[in-house]
Amino acid sequence: MKKAVGPLLPAAFVLALLAAASAGGPPQSLDDRVRGFLDSQKGQWREENVTEADGRLLFDLILKKRYTRALEIGTSTGHSGIWQAWALSKTGGALVTIEIEEFRHLAALRNFRTAGLDGLIDARLGDARRIVADLAGPFDLIFIDADKNWTLNYFEALLPKLAPGGCFAVHNVSSLGYMKGIRDFLEKVRGLSFMDTTIDRSASGGMSLSFRRKIPA
Ligand SMILES: C[S@@+](CC[C@H](N)C(=O)[O-])C[C@H]1O[C@@H](n2cnc3c(N)ncnc32)[C@H](O)[C@@H]1O
Repeated sequence: MKKAVGPLLPAAFVLALLAAASAGGPPQSLDDRVRGFLDSQKGQWREENVTEADGRLLFDLILKKRYTRALEIGTSTGHSGIWQAWALSKTGGALVTIEIEEFRHLAALRNFRTAGLDGLIDARLGDARRIVADLAGPFDLIFIDADKNWTLNYFEALLPKLAPGGCFAVHNVSSLGYMKGIRDFLEKVRGLSFMDTTIDRSASGGMSLSFRRKIPA
């Protein structure tokens, strides 16, 4: 009499099923992981972080312009960095971000890892005033969210590293417009014929967006 033989599954498929089951289900996509992390942190960003709307503004800018090389001054615990790196994951890019406070830098590293974006982020600990001089560039997006009285100095140091078509963005230019560093920066950038500057007032405190023309006027 013939033995009853059950359906045979390839061993590799069975092993993959077992691995997925022991890991709690099928692997998450990066989008699900980032979204899940951001959802879990809603209302929890307490270290001078940007709002969700401002993070989304940076996200949309990167996707719209297909930027790939981004630099941020002022990581804090990584909220804006996560939005930027998430967008960069879709354009094939990467982010360099600088923070001077060690406890914030370390928290940002943990957040980048949990969000699954650490592979796209070069997070540096130190004084951006010094570090910017050593950055090779070019960058498509430079986002200043720190040390606002130094904004003009950051602009002068980084303008040669801003790619044609790139954007130099500064957070809180309206709410902190009384600061000399911001006033001097705005006066300087508005006087340059090859830079087009607008202020996005939908951003909290206003965000200046200065685009470098592709062909100098
Ligand atoms: C407004 S918070 C940045 C928020 C961050 N972009 C976010 O949304 O999560 C400014 C950060 O810049 C840092 N900072 C201030 N001066 C700095 C400097 N010279 N170099 C690097 N980081 C600096 C502060 O420690 C602070 O964490």
